[in-house]
Amino acid sequence: GPIGEPAALAVPESARRLKIGIYFATWWGLNVIFNIYNKKVLNAYSFPWLTSTLSLAAGSLIMLISWALRIAETPKTDLDFWKSLFPVAVAHTIGHVAATVSMSKVAVSFTHIIKSGEPAFSVLVSRFILGETFPPAVYLSLLPIIGGCGLAALTELNFNMIGFMGAMISNLAFVFRNIFSKKGMKGKSVSGMNYYACLSIMSLLILTPFAIAVEGPQMWAAGFKEALSQTGPQIVWWMAAQSIFYHFYNQVSYMSLDEISPLTFSIGNTMKRISVIVSSIIIFQTPIQPVNALGAAIAVFGTFLYSQSQSMKIGISMKPICINGSKT
Ligand code: 3PG
Repeated sequence: GPIGEPAALAVPESARRLKIGIYFATWWGLNVIFNIYNKKVLNAYSFPWLTSTLSLAAGSLIMLISWALRIAETPKTDLDFWKSLFPVAVAHTIGHVAATVSMSKVAVSFTHIIKSGEPAFSVLVSRFILGETFPPAVYLSLLPIIGGCGLAALTELNFNMIGFMGAMISNLAFVFRNIFSKKGMKGKSVSGMNYYACLSIMSLLILTPFAIAVEGPQMWAAGFKEALSQTGPQIVWWMAAQSIFYHFYNQVSYMSLDEISPLTFSIGNTMKRISVIVSSIIIFQTPIQPVNALGAAIAVFGTFLYSQSQSMKIGISMKPICINGSKT
């Protein structure tokens, strides 16, 4: 919870750091596996609206069963909770489907290189929409982030506009999602895990009609027959894997968001992308040019500078930050 809560003070800082470290490692590992299966599915069966919906459906089902069997405590929610969750769910739905559409059009590594620009979106949204100001070092750190992403995009061998825009829209949507989530989780009795569960359920309800409108059962069925004949029955396992891993990596990420600021979250998220970019390039043998890799490296280095300039401002970056009071 935010600063000042007795629970946060009772736990020694070293234990808290260890716990967050374990969350981060688990989050990144699960995310790498998700990204690989997700792309395997999209390569064989390119229906990103359906697979995005299935990811949310798997998570909703896992949590409804966990609540029914009392594996997880059922959250106590009221109408206000669901009302305040709505904008978060809209942002989560847009960010999720946009990223999946992006990955259906371009290499996984390219989507994640563009998504490593998320901190830049975070600053721009905080500055122009929330009216928050930052020290000059923060703005300066955006130059390598934006420049590096730009260089990587310009030199991408398989550039595709939908792939690029999808990743950009996802960045913008997730910045809002993280800010609203942290506000929504603050002072509420709902845990990070249950907060994400409710988010999945609401996003599933929002996304389903759009997925049917954009793609629809007829296309899904025809495409599935073809995928089945070309890939064999393992496509079903890949789809199950991408859906289940999607839920668990997000669940773990929300368990950590419960403990850290949206800023630390988005830095952790960018660092996560290094493992995704490297592993997906190896597994899918993505062709890259040196100048393309240089762009990605500059962007990631920019995020490192950004985190340094931000942590100078806030003291220790791992400390929980109250985004309303002592702003990040
Ligand atoms: C998604 O499907 O939501 C994308 O993979 C993006 O997710 P990320 O920002 O959590 O990596």
